[in-house]
Amino acid sequence: MATAKEKTVWFCSSCGNESSKWMGRCPACGEWNTMVEKSVVTGKTAAVRVQSVVGGSSRPLKLSEIASAQESRATLGIAELDRLLGGGLVEGSLVLIGGEPGIGKSTLSLQIPLSCHLKTLYVTGEESPRQVKMRADRLGGLSDSCLIYSETRMEDILAQAAEVKPQLMIVDSVQTMYTSAAESSAGSVTQIREVTSMLLHFAKNSGIPVILIGHITKDGYIAGPKILEHIVDVVLQFEGDGKGTYRMLRSIKNRFGSTSELAVFEMTGSGLREVTNPSEMLMPMHGDGLSGTAIAVMLDGLRPFLFEVQALVSTAAYGTAQRSATGFDVRRLNMLLAVLEKRAGFKLNAKDVFLNMAGGLRVSEPACDLAVVCAVLSSNFDYPVPPDICFAAEVGLSGEIRPVAQTDRRVMEASRLGFKKIFISSWSTLEPRSLQSGVEIVKVGDIPAFVKALFR
Ligand code: TYD
Ligand code: MG
Repeated sequence: MATAKEKTVWFCSSCGNESSKWMGRCPACGEWNTMVEKSVVTGKTAAVRVQSVVGGSSRPLKLSEIASAQESRATLGIAELDRLLGGGLVEGSLVLIGGEPGIGKSTLSLQIPLSCHLKTLYVTGEESPRQVKMRADRLGGLSDSCLIYSETRMEDILAQAAEVKPQLMIVDSVQTMYTSAAESSAGSVTQIREVTSMLLHFAKNSGIPVILIGHITKDGYIAGPKILEHIVDVVLQFEGDGKGTYRMLRSIKNRFGSTSELAVFEMTGSGLREVTNPSEMLMPMHGDGLSGTAIAVMLDGLRPFLFEVQALVSTAAYGTAQRSATGFDVRRLNMLLAVLEKRAGFKLNAKDVFLNMAGGLRVSEPACDLAVVCAVLSSNFDYPVPPDICFAAEVGLSGEIRPVAQTDRRVMEASRLGFKKIFISSWSTLEPRSLQSGVEIVKVGDIPAFVKALFR
């Protein structure tokens, strides 16, 4: 094994890209003047450190030689959060909760110890104990099992944690913490990495789960958490515009569960409230008879939910038509418009098209294609889609309507919410229970057939 060697590398303080020399502009994220110098130790010591994190053994083992352990999980008392984590917080795991400032990270992280009554060490680097107390009063909770510790130096925090021996540690936020082992100031890439790996060691060695809060700016990085995703076990991200009352917590990485889950919360005067049936909040908030809206049936993990897609098609005011999409990939919108133009003859090239997903939702599932197409056509012809119809299908490049996963679940949810009709692909196969659910199932194979069935 090589002996320890120190070398100097450069990190981009914006995205964390590593380079062997200084550069004026980071080639990865394109930011100027963001490269900072850092000395790293390579060779022996570095290798030893990696081994201690994963708890490795001295020789390779057969799978049968490794004792299988059922990971033990703690319930956090917030059902939606537990579900997102895959059934509670796993012992010794490091969970990162990211989001823009003001979205509700501190609120949620304080609601956890107030509702679960695990012995918690709540470390805050952003607020004084009095401010935390004021927030706790507002959340209506008082828990003697939660200890508030206002500190930013990691060495002190870990020493306290060793003394207090909590069942859970919460650190708000990674950007305010620092370690004397690194020279740069708190919030720099070096400090953020160092602090996170110290917390990882702590969690793995003690078995105490750690919840770490991190700020993310609109475009996803600058402040750091993006560069931590590969270090931590679970990444939960808050989404939604800070102005609306609804916030979505999405699991974007989970070593102990699924990543396609989503939990919806409502910010109220006394903290975040779980919205257990998101369909209710995402459904239309206007009367019947408006054109340009269609209901899509989406799936979040295993749970289907319905939401409204809104489109506005108007004659282009200037030479080039505008295309804009909120919560939906604008390239996919352009593709769908091209399909409508080429395969079904709708003249949309001289039209401005605006698309919006209700409730500040961000959608990446192709299953909402048909609802998007329907909303666009509805606005274009000023034809209101009856409110008891919903859609779940993907649209392909040749205008074909393709089946989507778990159509049965979607049909059952539509039936539960009282919908009369659901449009799906001709190629979907359904179980008998969906066929008997009481919803009329309209199977369509391509865009012309769909238009005929809808506007007949
Ligand atoms: P906060 O949780 O501090 O956000 P973050 O830690 O992500 O920066 O606060 C979020 C916002 O929520 C803040 O503007 C105040 C508001 N809020 C409420 O509306 N109700 C409440 O009960 C609390 C505690 C905060
Ligand atoms: Mg905060």
